[in-house]
Amino acid sequence: MGAMQRWLEDQARVRSRRGIVRHTAVRTGAAGPAPEAGRRTARPVLDLASNDYLGLSTEPRLKAAAARAIDRYGTGARASRVVTGTLPVHGELEAELCRLAGQPAALAFSSGYAANLGVLTALGGPGTLLLSDEHSHASLIDAARLSRSPVQAFPHGDLAALHAMLAARTQPRAVVVVESIYSVLGDAADLAETARLCAEHDALLVVDEAHGIGVAGGGRGAVHAAGLAGAEHVVITATLSKALGAQGGAVLGSLALRGHLVNTARSFIFDTGLAPAAAAAAAEACRIVAAEPQLAGRVLSNAAVLAQTCGVAQAAGAVQSVPVGRPGRAAAIAEELEAEGVLVGCFRPPSVPDGISRVRLTARADLTAAQTRRAAELVASRLAPAVQTAQAIR
Ligand SMILES: Cc1ncc(COP(=O)(O)O)c(C=O)c1O
Repeated sequence: MGAMQRWLEDQARVRSRRGIVRHTAVRTGAAGPAPEAGRRTARPVLDLASNDYLGLSTEPRLKAAAARAIDRYGTGARASRVVTGTLPVHGELEAELCRLAGQPAALAFSSGYAANLGVLTALGGPGTLLLSDEHSHASLIDAARLSRSPVQAFPHGDLAALHAMLAARTQPRAVVVVESIYSVLGDAADLAETARLCAEHDALLVVDEAHGIGVAGGGRGAVHAAGLAGAEHVVITATLSKALGAQGGAVLGSLALRGHLVNTARSFIFDTGLAPAAAAAAAEACRIVAAEPQLAGRVLSNAAVLAQTCGVAQAAGAVQSVPVGRPGRAAAIAEELEAEGVLVGCFRPPSVPDGISRVRLTARADLTAAQTRRAAELVASRLAPAVQTAQAIR
């Protein structure tokens, strides 16, 4: 056996010992074709693990838009956007994103991950200090590493620490990176105060709205809700794959920023354009979110049901996060619940530090309050001993 093979097997053993094995098995009922008419499934599956907060990934209007785009443009964009890969549907999507979030310009990427890589590497470099909340998503951490900027992480939500770092900066430019709603704890950044600090210190604020768009501010996002739409020193990054039910990502900000990204963001230039079906579906999702703010309202009222039933404080958005302690316990709870027909997510290292593994429940607009309560009661019955263990560990 070669050195690499031995190392791979060792690594697998370590993961197994620590209870952090991840797998890609299909989870029954999570997606795919609806059961054939007349055929009974064993039990309806309630999916509280996906990021499809508004239920738009199976919405007929999105499917129809995607099908029309395939008819018109084919299944792939065929080339980079800066070669021949830009299609009218990309312009349509970017215009809809701007209308929804109240931004002057947008640029679509092939994923939210690529959007974060693109914007931070294009703005970074030795002359730009990058200050990032310590709870930032892996894509923002990787982007900061690739940016060649000096990088400092500030304690989660600690604006006094951020203020001190900004005041001490020696670089001519600074970029502050936060998420509007954090993906692990589900808590919200204080965007108004963070933006004020950035303005005071002539810094640019990059807000990852992956979990905000479609949910916060009646669907228009937390930046819009904070009255910061169109502010020159605030940039949004977004994924099209969560509340918008499609696939892809985007950066929204000034026209000057868009031009800079088209010319320097390597994850935009050296990447094939977003697939037409995904772009068309996301554009349709933007129209629906803008026209139907009650969808975002339903996510938040179902989030309240989840939090109350599970005995945790309600988080800001769709994601409700329940600490369960050790990683193996989180995975075991998720497995037990799956056998009962309820899918939940779990956060384990490396997504969170050891000892604070979490079961992650996402509220959805397309479940009724009664369905949500039924699922949450089942979750709560499995969680009770684990929550006590987690409290004992802390
Ligand atoms: C906060 C945050 N940013 C970025 C991303 C990446 O988005 P995408 O899945 O479109 O690559 C995610 C997805 O998990 C996320 O939670």
